[in-house]
Amino acid sequence: MVDVLLGLQWGDEGKGKIVDVLAPQYEVVARFQGGPNAGHTLEFDGFKHVLHQIPSGIFRPDIKNIIGNGVVLDPIVFRKEIEGLAKYNLDLTRNLFISKKASIILPTHRLLDAAYEQAKGDSKIGSTLRGIGPTYQDKVARQGLRVGDMLSPGFRTKYDKLVAIHKTTLDHHQFDYQSVLPQAETEFFEAVEFIKQFQLVESEYEVNQALKNDQKVLAEGAQGSLLDIDFGSYPFVTSSNTMTAGACTGLGVAPRQIGEVYGIFKAYCTRVGSGPFPTELLDETGERMRAEGREFGATTGRPRRCGWLDLPSLKYTIMINGVSQLIMMKVDVLNIFETIKICTHYQLPDGSITEQLPYDLCDTTVTPIYKEFKGWQTSLTNFHTFEEVPAELAAYIDFLEAELGIPISFISTGPDREAIIHREAIV
Ligand code: GDP
Ligand code: IMO
Ligand code: MG
Repeated sequence: MVDVLLGLQWGDEGKGKIVDVLAPQYEVVARFQGGPNAGHTLEFDGFKHVLHQIPSGIFRPDIKNIIGNGVVLDPIVFRKEIEGLAKYNLDLTRNLFISKKASIILPTHRLLDAAYEQAKGDSKIGSTLRGIGPTYQDKVARQGLRVGDMLSPGFRTKYDKLVAIHKTTLDHHQFDYQSVLPQAETEFFEAVEFIKQFQLVESEYEVNQALKNDQKVLAEGAQGSLLDIDFGSYPFVTSSNTMTAGACTGLGVAPRQIGEVYGIFKAYCTRVGSGPFPTELLDETGERMRAEGREFGATTGRPRRCGWLDLPSLKYTIMINGVSQLIMMKVDVLNIFETIKICTHYQLPDGSITEQLPYDLCDTTVTPIYKEFKGWQTSLTNFHTFEEVPAELAAYIDFLEAELGIPISFISTGPDREAIIHREAIV
């Protein structure tokens, strides 16, 4: 079966950590969408490492890590990532596979991202500027380049043709590319050569053959469901399907092969970039959350916006993903609060109360309705089972499980691999 692990909020829920924790139960770990906009942090044995495009199973021995066809891959970032992993002595040319059908991010895609954001002015998306949107745009426009094209003698011609189109657009936006493009192109073509030492494959065969051999595959989501191109807070979203269905199209597996769907959420909410955020705290409480949770972007270093947990949106993302097990992250960050709030409903401008997400959260101002909980105000480092946790935390968990109708299988109490409390063995 293919189990899917994905974020239920606006990204940065802690997916990297949990993929690393669960990876020993799998033979294959595969990324199915997104690209270097992702920053997945792993901590173990005193090391902290942030991965952007490489799957988070990479630190566990003997796991096949696949970058699937649904991913947009930046060769320059890829090369830097590989070089950053040198100190760990991993056998990367053996354990890392890249789909020939994955799309390639060109230097001009990054420039286009910046040009589009500049043109949007105050209504900018807050993109990570990694070229994600323009690359998916070219994929859908059927003019993009794919990893497999790197192996063909016509690659340079295809590249030049696409870049000529990009330059027209950049000229239209009066965006200067002359000063940066030559250097970026040199790096790009060096990185293209560098990538060729890795296993470039039809990864849909790799994944389906693994399934035929009764091996287990873990699909690692990037971003979060509220950033999904179809169901997120459009247009303040990313450009891929971040939901469970994305794992099917992004790896080439049939829906009936999907097994468990692990939905990860923080015990509160964060968002980086622009767009609606109903429970956002613009006060001292939000500041404390940011400081305690070290909520600064793993890719861009931007401060993350913080707020209380939002049940209407969590119920929505559980619904569209078919989540079968929940994992609650960063519970320790709430240790400091006397009172903890959960938004259970939204009040709409006409006074009515709902737990459904309005069509357009950008145009509809919703007022969150909160339920208050007493904080546990104690460190969680010495707790190892659900039975031991403080009564106030147990009440918080019980309330969530009753509301969401799905078990919380793990709670995470710190960044390290070991800082995790299991409800029971889950597979
Ligand atoms: P991802 O994008 O979903 O993989 O998450 P990020 O790596 O962007 O952000 C999660 C951050 O929280 C990272 O800095 C992690 O090291 C950290 N983290 C993960 N789990 C926990 C936890 O349970 N408690 C605390 N305090 N930090 C955590
Ligand atoms: P991980 O996998 C948090 C956000 C950006 C911006 C919007 C669009 O680490 O959870 P894009 O670069 O895709 O054009 O940006 O999406 N965003 C993320 N926010 N975590 C991420 O990834 C994100 N990837 C993109 O901040 O608001
Ligand atoms: Mg992240």
